[in-house]
Amino acid sequence: MSLRTSTASRRAFLSGAAAASAYFWIPKSVNGYSTAEMLAMTTVDNKVKPGISKWELDTPALCVDLDKMERNIAKMQATVKANGIASRPHTKTHKCAAIAKYQLATGSIGICCAKVSEAEAMLENGVEKVCMTTSNPSRSKIRRAMAIRKRSSSFIQAVDLEENARDLSAAAKEAGVVADVVIDVAVGTRSGIPPGEGVLSLAKVIDTLPNLKLRGVLSYDGGAQHIKGFAERKERALKNIEPNAEVFAMLKKAGLNTEIFSGGGSGTYNIMHQTSGFTDVQVGSYLFMDMQYLAIGGQDDPNTYTDFQPSLTVLVTVLNNRFPGLLTTDGGSKAFTLNKPNAGVIGEPGMDYNAGSDEFGSIKITGTPSKSYKIGDKLECIVPHCDPAVNEYDWIYGTRKDKVEVVWPITGRGHSQ
Ligand SMILES: Cc1ncc(COP(=O)(O)O)c(C=O)c1O
Repeated sequence: MSLRTSTASRRAFLSGAAAASAYFWIPKSVNGYSTAEMLAMTTVDNKVKPGISKWELDTPALCVDLDKMERNIAKMQATVKANGIASRPHTKTHKCAAIAKYQLATGSIGICCAKVSEAEAMLENGVEKVCMTTSNPSRSKIRRAMAIRKRSSSFIQAVDLEENARDLSAAAKEAGVVADVVIDVAVGTRSGIPPGEGVLSLAKVIDTLPNLKLRGVLSYDGGAQHIKGFAERKERALKNIEPNAEVFAMLKKAGLNTEIFSGGGSGTYNIMHQTSGFTDVQVGSYLFMDMQYLAIGGQDDPNTYTDFQPSLTVLVTVLNNRFPGLLTTDGGSKAFTLNKPNAGVIGEPGMDYNAGSDEFGSIKITGTPSKSYKIGDKLECIVPHCDPAVNEYDWIYGTRKDKVEVVWPITGRGHSQ
């Protein structure tokens, strides 16, 4: 799997993104509002009163363009509906209860969580219909998962091992509940039980356990999402899922509950419905996009994935311009993570942003910048990979036409257990 985009296509995209935005402008140096100051200006629902420009934010600042994010969600919903399936978006991408609620309100049938602590944070903030896509073999996590189930009857837990299923059933009994479970059937080698007779045996065991209720299977294919080129991605994704579809058919034939056959991500959201029995896609990145996803190419453009718009950006400030051909910013690996390809500077295709240093970003000027940057000037960047970048921030600023509309806490940030 190659996550590298060609410099040429990335540059073309970044200059195109700037040109396409009616509201793009290169900011003057401004005084930055801190998060505390912004929060002091919010009313109910974290809405910001005066409509401050995002360029007035202190940096690094994580921002989401609400118009773009809402369009991405609308496109996903329209596509899955047309294809006869549903979306069950993964909160591992945004970790934000407010966004999860918006996804549920706009038609998603549930949400996914990767970690128990993430699911706890969602539930504490009023988000239900959680499907835990990761199995939890430890005693404490089994208990915590069943405590979630006790509070939320729509909770579903992934399982991929008979012993784990028995432990879950015992913990569910202790909690006084019958817990819904799905079998995580592997696509590739990362997680889950390999497709085959073993899945049928596990399903039969679950079916006999008094405190578990089998709901179906999960089959997420992480390896297929970033395959470059739509035709190649489609071919590989549909081939990879074949053994899982056979197992799904086996369970169905055996009279077991097969109401869920979930998988697929932002790279295969418009492919997976072609698999027999498939019910929903666990899409995450489609909301925000990032440099990794932009590079995979889609049906409309073989070089750039234009299905969804990059709504997530990080604003940074120039700290140093004294060295020829170089700029230093306040956004290093703690603002962007060390993922590749490098962050993309919007409107500046002739800049190569290296976030390798903890607290500083180093920009190499490889072309002609749109202006001469002074210390204190701001730049807006698309992150290398959205999920871990979001996890670096306490707050996300929701903007519309460059004005801050809302300040949302990243509810599950740092919840890695
Ligand atoms: C199990 C699972 N489902 C869904 C997703 C979301 O995928 P994407 O961000 O490609 O849409 C991920 C991402 O890593 C995942 O691990």
